[in-house]
Amino acid sequence: MTTSTTSTVQDITPLSGTIGAEIRDVDLRQPLSEDSVAAIRRALLDYKVIFFPGQHLSPDEHKHFAAYFGEITNAHPVIPGVGEHKEVFELDYSRIRELLAADEQAGEYGDRDKWHTDVTFVKTPPLGSILNAIVIPAAGGDTLWSDTQAAYEGLSQPFKDLVDGLTAVHDGSRTFGKVLDYLGEGEWDGERFTELVPVEHPVVRTHPETGRRNLFVNPGFTRSIKGLTSKESDALLRHLYAHMATPEYVVRYRWNQGDLGFWDNRTTMHYAIGDYGTAHRVIQRVTIRGDRPF
Ligand code: SIN
Repeated sequence: MTTSTTSTVQDITPLSGTIGAEIRDVDLRQPLSEDSVAAIRRALLDYKVIFFPGQHLSPDEHKHFAAYFGEITNAHPVIPGVGEHKEVFELDYSRIRELLAADEQAGEYGDRDKWHTDVTFVKTPPLGSILNAIVIPAAGGDTLWSDTQAAYEGLSQPFKDLVDGLTAVHDGSRTFGKVLDYLGEGEWDGERFTELVPVEHPVVRTHPETGRRNLFVNPGFTRSIKGLTSKESDALLRHLYAHMATPEYVVRYRWNQGDLGFWDNRTTMHYAIGDYGTAHRVIQRVTIRGDRPF
């Protein structure tokens, strides 16, 4: 699907010492050359989250861009897509509450965000997510990303040895169980389901492209560490989450309408800051199919 174009993707500005970069010299509404796709993929691996300011993509252009990097998934395992775009997940908390009619039906969905990695409660969480900023409040609504590879590398060797062989249980039912009951069924990777069954992933995963190791637990969906007592599991997860949210591993992005953000979901977690009161914020997200973490 690549064709020749004049875009070269050379203007990459890092946003912190470890994670995040902005790319300004490419128009994502135009076809991308193979070199441009390769440069964007390289930047994603290097910076973990990359931003393309002022792109103003339509849902079709958004999906088209995502498809350069892999197969795009359904919008979400539980939440249907927006209109005819079954691959576009729209996050508009005021609309979510309206649709679900009452807070009790939403469960934790629609509450303040938690640090999370997208959709780790399925066997094959997405490779990456691409966010299109549709409506952004005049102030607030920034997003934070943590570099979970830098966080792993920042652990002492004895601590790495402790976490290296552990397995975690991930469960989406607290956030999406009630929504799933309300909607009846969901679908992910061709599998239809009516309940969210917990899945297991390694606590430290190996990146399939770079071979580097990173922490792969998150407060949104990780429930426990297998084989530990609940006290030990809670204490270990609490420590890892605090460590992963260390400012040195984190970048904060201030959105403007029309910006596009693309993150490597295998090696980051993120947090949408809910500091904009009743102001309106709408983002649309497309995810790229991932593989089984190992
Ligand atoms: C998400 O959690 O995928 C969306 C992040 C955001 O709303 O900034």
